[in-house]
Amino acid sequence: VDPTLMVSSTSSISPVMLSQDELKKIAAYKAVEFIESGMVVGLGTGSTAKHAVDKIAELLHTGKLKNIIGIPTSKITHEQALSLGIPLSDLNKHPILDLSIDGADEVDPQMNLVKGRGGSLLREKMVEGASKKFIVIVDESKLVNHIGGSGLAMPVEIVPFCWEFTLKRLEMLFIEAGCVGKLRMKVGNGEEIYVTDNGNYIIDLYFKKDMGDLRAASDAILRLAGVVEHGMFIDMATTVIVAGKLGVSVTNK
Ligand code: 5RP
Repeated sequence: VDPTLMVSSTSSISPVMLSQDELKKIAAYKAVEFIESGMVVGLGTGSTAKHAVDKIAELLHTGKLKNIIGIPTSKITHEQALSLGIPLSDLNKHPILDLSIDGADEVDPQMNLVKGRGGSLLREKMVEGASKKFIVIVDESKLVNHIGGSGLAMPVEIVPFCWEFTLKRLEMLFIEAGCVGKLRMKVGNGEEIYVTDNGNYIIDLYFKKDMGDLRAASDAILRLAGVVEHGMFIDMATTVIVAGKLGVSVTNK
């Protein structure tokens, strides 16, 4: 564990075999315990965050939480929260959030994240960047030593205009790291390009070697015209909740 981080608590889970989805639910429910009545809460996107949204709705309906305002990070979360009766708003009306709860694809020991394999990285970064606290909820399979080094995708949202040009420029930036970019297609439909909630495309970057300094990599990507945002969330998380076979840990920055 990184010495700059403080593990505030670890509690054990009964030693039965839990599925990955059950672990996600445990992490999500733990995070919801941090919500207090009257808070403005960022609602994340993905299979882990979905459990948190379900739990918030349950607590609102049973009266254990009151006057919560949710700020969704995607159209799908907006629809889920709306169908569950959670009062919603947006960043225009609520530019400062009390806390946000969201999943991640990778979490390193310094709490840097890769997000966006579900496609919602831009709205997630806007909402979570406006939050006083950002609680990340993951099962233990998401823990890595270095983000971007797992051989899995690091997503970059780009404008559709001349996307092949932008893909090549991205690969060139990380030529020494053996970077290969792939345009994301819709799941189950290899013919159709995936389009984000913002009308953009996603290039998934795959690295053969470590991409090096994260801040330098982030700056270089964002300097490219055509790039909208990338999925590295550097120094944004304030708490990471990890559910694993041996227990759930809550680590605060
Ligand atoms: C969506 C995301 C998700 O939070 C991330 O992909 C994790 O998803 P899941 O909880 O389904 O594993 O960043 O853009």
